[in-house]
Amino acid sequence: MKHTQLKPFPKDFFWGASTSAYQVEGAWNEDGKGPSVIDMREKYPERTTDYKVASDHYHLYQEDVRLMAEMGFKAYRFSIAWTRIIPNGTGEVNPKGLEFYNNLINELIENKIEPIVTMYHFDLPYALQARGGWSNRETIDAFVKYAKVLFDNYGDRVKYWLTINEQNMMIMHGKALGTLDPNLEDPDRELYQQNHHMLVAQAKAMDVCHQMLPQALIGPAPNISYIYPASSKPEDILAAQSFNSIRNWLYLDAAVYGRYNKTAWSFLEEKGYVPTIVEGDMEILKNAKPDFIAFNYYTSKTVEASNGEGNDKNNTGDQEIVIGEAGVYKGHNNPNLPKNEFGWEIDPIGFRTTLREVYDRYQLPIIITENGLGAFDKVEEDGTVRDPYRIDYLKKHLEQMQLAITDGVEVFGYCPWSAIDLISTHQGAKKRYGFIFVDREEFDLKELRRIPKQSFYWYKEVIASNGEKL
Ligand code: BG6
Repeated sequence: MKHTQLKPFPKDFFWGASTSAYQVEGAWNEDGKGPSVIDMREKYPERTTDYKVASDHYHLYQEDVRLMAEMGFKAYRFSIAWTRIIPNGTGEVNPKGLEFYNNLINELIENKIEPIVTMYHFDLPYALQARGGWSNRETIDAFVKYAKVLFDNYGDRVKYWLTINEQNMMIMHGKALGTLDPNLEDPDRELYQQNHHMLVAQAKAMDVCHQMLPQALIGPAPNISYIYPASSKPEDILAAQSFNSIRNWLYLDAAVYGRYNKTAWSFLEEKGYVPTIVEGDMEILKNAKPDFIAFNYYTSKTVEASNGEGNDKNNTGDQEIVIGEAGVYKGHNNPNLPKNEFGWEIDPIGFRTTLREVYDRYQLPIIITENGLGAFDKVEEDGTVRDPYRIDYLKKHLEQMQLAITDGVEVFGYCPWSAIDLISTHQGAKKRYGFIFVDREEFDLKELRRIPKQSFYWYKEVIASNGEKL
């Protein structure tokens, strides 16, 4: 639909950006922090670094917040490392861990930046995984206990809470992300049991949040991308519908309506992945209500029908590249879309489509908590970092977001990935997303100097003009 007049971005729109604890903080074992499953990852993909130092945000957070304030950020979405707060996942609370986030939150507030907190971004305490992780129902209680500690300590200053980052990607691409427990006997089936436990944990946390902090708002944060059929063949359309349900609606239907999506459920039945649901679980899901939907969007996906041959499994690969599920859908290269340097398709119009679809289905306000372009940025001889390709990506997505707003979608914030360069989930330090360059290489930490990129100055103007100057 063409619009003759665009609606402006809302007043008080949350312009900002995102990071996650383990990808940016470093200080992986300092001040009483316990190990997470990411820290204990046995092998890192070849030629990529570990997360021990990352961007050293733990020590340099004040400088980083200063730069965010210089860009004019209205919000900053970051995650809290569960293992800093409760090092073994369920026991003693670590005062030093509490102190770090207290300081960070205060620093943000002093700079008039709204803190938006992700409670759990891939980094489950390793001690919990050693006892079965999300396969063990005790992890639900551990998460609720952790949530209470967060609400108790930060609820006076943090109004916006995100429960679990990209639960759907942990289920479908846990191997690439480093969240998959290597000791699972039957991972495909077990993962959907873990998924169910996470859904229950999320629902309980949303409920506790509403009880403890009546002013606060909380929501899920999955990775949502609309799925296109490869052609108008009815079989392809059916495959796209199935994958939309399995990848997207399974997670949002459960979070918002407290029920399992039927198409996704029939997939679980067909594959033998149906989770055990104990009495009371569905009631817990039903009673919990998110206040908004946060989602991460990088690109759309395209699938065709699968003839059932072979044993395609998404779980083996990158989170933005679809492989398939035998007999259900098969990944298809969309010939209409360009790709980034890492093979991810780029689809700004798909962003508008996804926004419209999510809003139509759930009618809840939306905040975008990730969107961005990974690239091999470098420092030029004159000391600058030029990333016109990132500006182009973000600008095109913002244009489509404004069109979606004009279509009637209620969007209250945009926090692309990432505020500052950080370590990618499986492609190392060289895959950069930030507005702020961190001068380090994969295995050479150099001085970790911060350098505002060209996109930093561009985004500053976008924010200053409330999106009028894209
Ligand atoms: C999302 C994650 O999947 O995508 C982030 O929530 C991640 O943690 C981002 O970094 C980009 O992916 P990658 O693999 O390029 O780091």
